[in-house]
Amino acid sequence: MNRIDEIKRRRTFGIVSHPDAGKTTLTEKLLLFGGAIQVAGAVKSNKIKKHATSDFMEIEKQRGISVATSVMGFEYRGLQVNILDTPGHKDFAEDTYRTLTAVDSVIVVIDVAKGVEEQTEKLVEVCRMRHTPIIVFINKLDREGKDAFDLLDEVEEKLKLKVKPMSWPIGMGSRFQGVYNMYEKKLCLFEARGKQTEETTIEFKNIEDKQLDGYIGERPANELREEVETAETVYPDFDREDYLAGKISPVFFGSAVNNFGVKELLDCFVEIAPGPLPRETEERVVEPLEEKMTGFIFKIHANMDPKHRDRIAFMRIVSGTFERNTNYFHNRQGKLMKFSNPTSFMASKKEVIEEAFPGDVIGLYDSGNFKIGDSMTEGEKLKFKGIPSFSPEQFRYVNNTDPMKTKQLAKGLNELMDEGVAQLFTKEDNGRKIIGTVGALQFEVIQHRLLHEYGASCSYEPMSMHKACWVKCDDPLAMKEFEQRRKKDLATDKDGHLVFMAESAWMLKMAQENHPKVQFYFTSEMDY
Ligand code: G4P
Repeated sequence: MNRIDEIKRRRTFGIVSHPDAGKTTLTEKLLLFGGAIQVAGAVKSNKIKKHATSDFMEIEKQRGISVATSVMGFEYRGLQVNILDTPGHKDFAEDTYRTLTAVDSVIVVIDVAKGVEEQTEKLVEVCRMRHTPIIVFINKLDREGKDAFDLLDEVEEKLKLKVKPMSWPIGMGSRFQGVYNMYEKKLCLFEARGKQTEETTIEFKNIEDKQLDGYIGERPANELREEVETAETVYPDFDREDYLAGKISPVFFGSAVNNFGVKELLDCFVEIAPGPLPRETEERVVEPLEEKMTGFIFKIHANMDPKHRDRIAFMRIVSGTFERNTNYFHNRQGKLMKFSNPTSFMASKKEVIEEAFPGDVIGLYDSGNFKIGDSMTEGEKLKFKGIPSFSPEQFRYVNNTDPMKTKQLAKGLNELMDEGVAQLFTKEDNGRKIIGTVGALQFEVIQHRLLHEYGASCSYEPMSMHKACWVKCDDPLAMKEFEQRRKKDLATDKDGHLVFMAESAWMLKMAQENHPKVQFYFTSEMDY
């Protein structure tokens, strides 16, 4: 197969949901369809969240598993489908945000009973910012849940998505009889423990057909006719261009655990989802069909094997063909690097790969050369956009508790920050170090890993802090004044960028009002 065909047949996406909505179950069913796994229960990665409300050791154990399932791939109808795993635990939301930079589209899973939950809102907001095409899967129809119209309203309101139902549920919970596929005009009947077969999927070009009553009963059939008619008038026709532009989201109903509605979802996904998309850099837009290889690092994972101190950097290929043992240009470090063991992670099977194409994600063994956001090219100077650090929400001073291990502590902190575990700030006035994270769990993870991987020990000192925001100002005088007046609230991040540490929302507001020329940013991504 030639390069262009290889690129065009790739579909790289992520599944996001609030914990427990059914992301792992859906992933597993998709992998079963694709033949990537043979038995249910093979995907365990997201079980992390279940036990790990405070038990970070469990997370440590699970890290190995989640590396193995970072990328899960399978072939379906001639396409190479890559699913990028995202951590379920909310404290690792930043990891998820970054993984979303490496996908071309997203499937959002919503629990029919719970509706749109907090974490889904946050994740979809990130997708919306980037206009990522989204398909919605409403799960657990075998349970009692919210009315379909109400749920769609909720999705439109809370997720700020325009929706287009592609299937319509027939009953719910104990009365659940299946879905009517409005897209293909088929009736899919849900039978106990839902073995969805050809026999239970019936063509119904005309829903008015009285035969429908024979399958689901007269009353449910009339209800369905009424609801489908209403849905067809209320919601716009499906337009793929609008979906690709992130303007409309098709919605499916089903039950992942019963493997119901999953095939419709997958069949529609492979038909409409985008192949590898162009990516913006600070210099220009990179198109996937360009001949020269480009890619960016969006995730770094410490090696689980304590004997190997190296790490695995995950690179999304954006253009060209990546080849093993070939020199590529590491932009930030300005040097050439080649990789003898680039790895693909296909559902727990780790394989050394010879080549990879746009849309693929490969693992590169790294001894400390990479940090998140790094670009690799064939020599061109490029910096990919959209891989920001987010303003952390929890802060602690970090103190060295073993003066003999100062160097180890500095190295450990440095490397953990490159992995994106947390962010390190240095106060301008007294040089004290502050760690900022999105979730509380990371503090324990950092302490544990510093000790076990670097032999360094640290303690934390609580501090009350509302937010850290990156600041910039085009007027040097105004900036100087701001720096002088606010010195005690300023710090620098790891790359030397200036950060305003606001103790409270009020203080942030005051600073913004008093220094109107200074811009405050809540992600590190701004034009330097
Ligand atoms: P997550 O990755 O989004 O966190 O969710 P996960 O797939 O782990 O699913 C959470 C729970 O919901 C699991 O039950 C799973 O079996 C159940 N589930 C998923 N899809 C459906 C569905 O369509 N209908 C019903 N009724 N339940 C569903 P659990 O008891 O927490 O775990 P397990 O012991 O079954 O693995």
